[in-house]
Amino acid sequence: MNSQLSDYEKAKAFDIQSIDQGFLDDPFPTYQILREHDPVHINPDGTYFLTRYDDVVKAFKSPNMSSDKTQDFKPRFGDGPLYVHHTTSLVFNDDPYHSIVRKLMSEAFTPKKMNELDSVIDGIVDKLLDNVEAKGEFDVVQDYGLALPTEIIADMLGIPEEHRNKMHHYSTLILGALDPIVSPEKIDEGHKAVEEFGGLLEDLIAKRRLTPYGAEMGEVLVSLIFGEVDGRKLTPVELVQNCIFLLNAGHETTASLVSNGIGTLLDFPDQLELLRNEPGLIKTATEEFLRFQSPLQIGNRKVIEDTEFGPEGEKILIPGGSFLHTCLGAANRDPEIFNNPEKVDISRRPNPQIAFGIGKHICMGNTLGRMEGQKAIGKFVDRFPNLKLNGEKKFHGRARFRGLSFLPVSV
Ligand code: HEM
Repeated sequence: MNSQLSDYEKAKAFDIQSIDQGFLDDPFPTYQILREHDPVHINPDGTYFLTRYDDVVKAFKSPNMSSDKTQDFKPRFGDGPLYVHHTTSLVFNDDPYHSIVRKLMSEAFTPKKMNELDSVIDGIVDKLLDNVEAKGEFDVVQDYGLALPTEIIADMLGIPEEHRNKMHHYSTLILGALDPIVSPEKIDEGHKAVEEFGGLLEDLIAKRRLTPYGAEMGEVLVSLIFGEVDGRKLTPVELVQNCIFLLNAGHETTASLVSNGIGTLLDFPDQLELLRNEPGLIKTATEEFLRFQSPLQIGNRKVIEDTEFGPEGEKILIPGGSFLHTCLGAANRDPEIFNNPEKVDISRRPNPQIAFGIGKHICMGNTLGRMEGQKAIGKFVDRFPNLKLNGEKKFHGRARFRGLSFLPVSV
C-alpha cells in the first residue's frame, strides 16, 4: 500500500482482491486503519469488508445472512466433485437443512467422544514430543503442529495407517480450489482429490456398516453412520462429504493454533517465562493465542435483506444480495472490546475472542481444537526449557488463514 497516503486514504483504497506481501506478512496494521477509518469498507468489486467486533458478531448471528454457496460455486466448479463436496459441507448451508445435518453430526462431538479423544491426544502428543526431542533441531509446523490434528482426524474417521500421509495433500487441493484465483489444473486436481478421498471413505464406511463394533478408541464413524434424529440419518453423500469436510475444517486450523501459539511465545519471552512458571495458565493462554493470531482470519456471509452495519451514528445500509467478508482477525483486536489488543497477555480475562465464529455455525470442533491446543502447547513448553528460535519463521501467506509454514527451533 502507498505509504504517502493518510490512514484514511489507505483505508478507502483497500482492495481485498489485490493485497500485497506486506498485508500477508502482517495484516494487523491494515485491519487497524480499516476499523478506525472505514469499518464498513466497500471493495472495488462491490463486496464489503467488516472489521469491528460488533459488526462481525452481528453478521454471524443475524438470521438475515446466508452461508449457502449453491449459486456462487456453480460457475467455478460446474457439477463436478468439488461442487458436490463444497455445497454439501455443513458450513456452506442454511437452515433448516443446516440444523438437521448439524444435529446428526453432533453425534461425533459428544462429551463421551471428547473424553475418549482426551487420552488419544495425550498419547499422540507424547509420541511426537519424543520424536522431536530426538531430533534436537526441527520445524514446529511440519514435525509437530500439523502432525497432531491430522492423526486425530484420521483416528476419528478410522483411516488406516497407509493412507494417512495423503490426507494433508487432499485437504490442500480441495481447499485450494476456494482461493480467489485458481488455475484450471488446480481445479482438476481438486476434483480428483474429492473423488479419491471420497472413494477411500466410502470403502471404510461400507466396512464399518458390516462391523459396527470393531472401531478403535476415538473413532466416530459409527455414530455418523447410524446416528438418527427425528427418523432421519445422514445420506451416503452427506456422510462422505462431511467426513471430508471434518478433515478440511479441523486440521490446518488446529495446526495453526499450535504453531502460532509456540511462535507467539517465542516472540514474547516474558509470556513464555510466565507460562513456564504457571502452567495452569494454559487455558487462558490458548484463548489468547486464538485471539491474537486467529487461524481463520476472514469468513464470509451473503446479506439476504438490506441490513445496517457500523458504529452508532455512522450506520451504513448494506443492500440485500451483497457479499460480506467478516474479518475475525480484526474483530479479535478491536480496542472497544479488548484492552491493549496488540499486546499478548496469556492471563487475559475476560477474553470473548471469536476465533471459532459465533452463532448457528459456531465451530463444532471448538472443544476438540481447544483440547489439542492446550495439550500440544502446554506439554511442549514443559518438555523444552531450552527452547530457542533457530532461523527465520515464515507465514504461509494466504489472506483468509493465518498460519506459519515454517518455525525452526532448537530444544
Ligand atoms: C483452532 C482450531 C479451529 C478453528 C480456529 C476453527 C474455526 C472455525 C470457524 C471460524 C468456523 C465457523 C465458520 C462460519 O461460521 O462460517 C468453524 C466451523 C466448523 N468447524 Fe472449526 N475450527 C477449528 C477446529 C475444528 C476442528 C478440530 C473440527 C473438527 C474435527 C472443526 C469442525 C468444524 C465444523 C464441522 C464447522 C461447521 C459448523 C457449522 O457450519 O455449523 N473445527 N470452525
